[in-house]
Amino acid sequence: MTRRDLTHAPLVEAALGRTPRRTPVWFMRQAGRSLPEYRAVREGIDMLDSCFIPELLAEITVQPVRRHDMDGAILFSDIVVPLKAAGVDVDIVPGRGPVMGSPVRSRGDVDKLPVLEDAVPEVAAGIEAVLGELNDSQALIGFVGAPFTLASYLIEGGPSKNHEKTKAMMHAEPDTWHALMRRLVPTIMSFLKTQVDAGIDAMQLFDSWAGFLTEADYREHVLPYSAEILASVEGVIPRIHFGVATGELLGAMSEAGSEVMGVDWRVPLDTAATRFASPRVLQGNLDPALLLAGSDVIRAEVIRIKDEAARAIASGTATGHIFNLGHGVLPTTDPDAITEAVRIIHEEA
Ligand code: CP3
Repeated sequence: MTRRDLTHAPLVEAALGRTPRRTPVWFMRQAGRSLPEYRAVREGIDMLDSCFIPELLAEITVQPVRRHDMDGAILFSDIVVPLKAAGVDVDIVPGRGPVMGSPVRSRGDVDKLPVLEDAVPEVAAGIEAVLGELNDSQALIGFVGAPFTLASYLIEGGPSKNHEKTKAMMHAEPDTWHALMRRLVPTIMSFLKTQVDAGIDAMQLFDSWAGFLTEADYREHVLPYSAEILASVEGVIPRIHFGVATGELLGAMSEAGSEVMGVDWRVPLDTAATRFASPRVLQGNLDPALLLAGSDVIRAEVIRIKDEAARAIASGTATGHIFNLGHGVLPTTDPDAITEAVRIIHEEA
């Protein structure tokens, strides 16, 4: 594979700290249930199965770019796909999320956890099909889940409100915790390698639940492993790092090494930028709920967010801005409101 030349794609330019011709925008969860064309092609097909059908995953990845003039496509997959590919008994239950056949609770469980060593050919073929449909202004963003967020699903056995079993293992059995991290990192890195080898243009590390941790726990139990994953693609593709409710962790998370820091909607972008270890590109941070509030509200919020990013750039704490939501598109969002938001983001200076 020869990597596409996306030197002039706004999203890649912004991620590398250059000034793009327009503010690049993509939305987390832009592919998915907000789109009737997504619901139509997914009809009768299990979520995780759909991530292993190349033509289907490619079609779903491209749908939102086609409809909304996004500057990036996010690979349709899930953070548990590498676990599934490794042979872990995991299912995605509609309305709930990833559920494990048998949770990982002891050192014995950790030592038995399968590790992904091989490429995932279905995902590679899907990426190749996506790249055939995008033009050279449209970036394909790959992603992996971070080891903390994956560990939480494995230990809790499913989605969790408080992540209590995860935190208990971290503190009561630190050796088991670190062994689990050591076992997850190669699985995540090999799934990322499949995507990079297939030609993704940028990547995002999703540490969705890191915001539940204290900074001290994050630094000791999570940061070194996320840093190792990000380091594996340093200089190859631009890297984005994101978690929900991570305002207090932005400094520590920025030390993991990404060029771009995703910020959720709780922290103004100019405030967020002052917390980074060194200047980074900002990504964010419209509250996804406000896509339901009408275009006057959206326009006012877009102007506020772009002003905050511009202030951070002018003061030297940030080096660019990629527009995004502060977390994923909600399934109840009207797709026309998304199209309109993207238009406003592109047209407001
Ligand atoms: O546009 C995109 O962002 C598409 C790709 C994508 C999906 N999952 C598809 C998906 C991405 C980037 C993810 C990542 C993911 N999966 C994360 C990290 C991002 C985040 O939201 O913080 C997490 C925590 C998961 C785990 C997961 N998978 C959850 C919590 C759910 C929702 C369960 C439900 O039904 O509410 C899923 C399933 C899932 N992954 C769906 C989609 C489109 C919905 C299932 C469906 O359409 O049937």
